Amino acid sequence: MSKGRILVTGGTGYIGSHTIVELSEAGYDVVAVDNFSNSNPDVLQGIEKIIGRKVDFMEADCTDEHAFGKVFCKYSDIRAAIHFAASKAVGESVENPLKYYNNNLRSLVNLTALMKAQKEASIVFSSSCTVYGQPDKEHLPVSESAPLQPAESPYGRTKQMCEDILRDCVKAYGNLKVTALRYFNPIGAHKSALIGELPIGVPANLVPYITQTAAGIREKLSVFGDDYDTPDGSCIRDYIYVSDLAKAHVAAVDRMLGNRNSDRYEVFNLGTGKGMSVLELVNAFMRATGVNVPYVIAGRRAGDIEQVWADPSKANRELGWKADTPIEDVLLSAWNWQKRISGIK
Ligand code: NAD
Ligand code: WQD
Repeated sequence: MSKGRILVTGGTGYIGSHTIVELSEAGYDVVAVDNFSNSNPDVLQGIEKIIGRKVDFMEADCTDEHAFGKVFCKYSDIRAAIHFAASKAVGESVENPLKYYNNNLRSLVNLTALMKAQKEASIVFSSSCTVYGQPDKEHLPVSESAPLQPAESPYGRTKQMCEDILRDCVKAYGNLKVTALRYFNPIGAHKSALIGELPIGVPANLVPYITQTAAGIREKLSVFGDDYDTPDGSCIRDYIYVSDLAKAHVAAVDRMLGNRNSDRYEVFNLGTGKGMSVLELVNAFMRATGVNVPYVIAGRRAGDIEQVWADPSKANRELGWKADTPIEDVLLSAWNWQKRISGIK
């Protein structure tokens, strides 16, 4: 028997598609919504192949209250929403902040208004470790109680603003429950290699750049800085496997629908708890795949954080969830996905 229907906005995107797979495998029905601004309809076929059934899907722009509202007219049994739909390119947000304020804030406001009109109104919100900026050394690994820093980009500011909006709404509307999940660095692809990350143009993120270099699409990787105050001089992040991350969403939904949340507004860090440097990651990729990744040490990238990794103990304890896929398996999944989309045997 189904555990109920979950609305997934941004459902054909990178994290959304992996989450639909985990929700389906956990016994939920889904209705996915996307406007394909950063994904394409083929992703649905990949998801359907993995789960062995059709995905209910409606093409709609979450900023368009009327079009988005039609989803709720058609599906009157939505028990919770997971809100992935947003624009996420940090650099683009600096060049075009209004795109980010319009899309990320308007989508969230519309979703919250539509959800609060339901009997059950549980929302999982995709937030980011970017809200912590560069934590002081005494705050590493970073826990949920670490102070938030002024955002480095309009993108980051939209995440902070969305968290504030949701906190205010939970205070005002008694039927609303929210779980904000602060992701660290999601990487990898589903083990089937049927879905994965599809960056448009030159990847800004490290792992897609590595896999494209390994595939010969890029000549070499630039490692942005080896003169940071870290053991090998390169930046440190907490790389979390996307399927582990997807499972945390199922745990968050289970918790709210099972009334096990201790507050109507909760925040969790989602990471592995282990920091890894850029150079360590590149070497782990080469070890896991046996494929060489030519790289050069380049200058620092403007706005980069030196080091940040999660204290995920609250999520481990309260959600009964842990990101435990070995990094070699994660990097191999990213490579298998790259090979499939590049037609490499
Ligand atoms: P993604 O771009 O792959 O997925 C987002 C999806 O939302 C895309 O399919 C896009 O077409 C869709 N979308 C955007 N605006 C929309 C709108 N107005 N209406 C309907 N659909 C819309 O990104 P992702 O990596 O899967 O990220 C999902 C969420 O997680 C985002 O909110 C992002 O900010 C957040 N997040 C991502 C990361 C990361 O590194 N990938 C880290 C922290 C937080
Ligand atoms: C990781 C490390 C780079 C590319 C971004 C967003 C953040 C969050 C996650 C959404 C850094 C280095 C990268 C390259 C490199 N997203 N690097 N060469 O910067 O931690 O975070 O994605 O919320 O908001 O800012 O991720 O993958 O870009 O970089 O050396 O070609 O890899 O300097 O140290 P980042 P990333």
